[in-house]
Amino acid sequence: MTQRNGAPDAPLMIALPKGRLADQTLDLFAAAGVPLPGRENGRRLILASDDGTVHYVMAKPSDVPTFVEYGAADLGICGLDTLRESRRHVYEPLLLPFGFCRLCLAAPADRPDTPLRYQSQPRVATKYPNLTADFFRARGVNAEIIALNGSVELGPLVGLADLIVDIVESGNTLKANGLVETRTILEIQAVLIANRAAYHLKRAAIDAVVGRLRRHLAASEAAALPAKK
Ligand code: PRP
Repeated sequence: MTQRNGAPDAPLMIALPKGRLADQTLDLFAAAGVPLPGRENGRRLILASDDGTVHYVMAKPSDVPTFVEYGAADLGICGLDTLRESRRHVYEPLLLPFGFCRLCLAAPADRPDTPLRYQSQPRVATKYPNLTADFFRARGVNAEIIALNGSVELGPLVGLADLIVDIVESGNTLKANGLVETRTILEIQAVLIANRAAYHLKRAAIDAVVGRLRRHLAASEAAALPAKK
């Protein structure tokens, strides 16, 4: 993909997913010493660090892999679910220790597996049509996939779908809606992604960020280990 911001002194562009992952990312960046966006509340969508070396692109989470694949951002943070669903081609230099959850197949508690086993064409509601199609195709099941944008758990409740494929974190949403997990499709956590051209053209700036994050994460892990006697 074309790298449009490749001048040697160009700021490092980082796509940050608006919402819950943004707060955890910025906490990690602060602890690791990565320059943070300057204080600015408002509607601006590109926020520069005080020293100008990093520009943060405030993106919709599902768009982060697109920004990064096209080189509109050099780095980005997203969940593995978003990345795999996007089918975008990027480097994945670092897994991040937050955003843990899983992508699951779930079904009504009173008939957990019957649609998958016995129906020739189960209807499956999901925000992840690509990953869902992969899952059923790999098992030779001819599923009809119904793409939704949210509140996927409604599917079986209102007769729209037999099954759902959705994110499960605490499991509370499934339980509250009479659903149970029947398969784990993907274990998920946050990941730092990099544009493939930028990874070479802006190597020094990217290494500086990735290096700080790696050192901080290694130190945090070491501090969490029980002391040797
Ligand atoms: C996500 C996901 C589940 C819920 C899982 O939804 O799609 O609905 O969180 O969390 P839990 O296992 O801790 O209950 P989100 O809050 O993003 O809203 P959405 O349903 O509108 O996508």
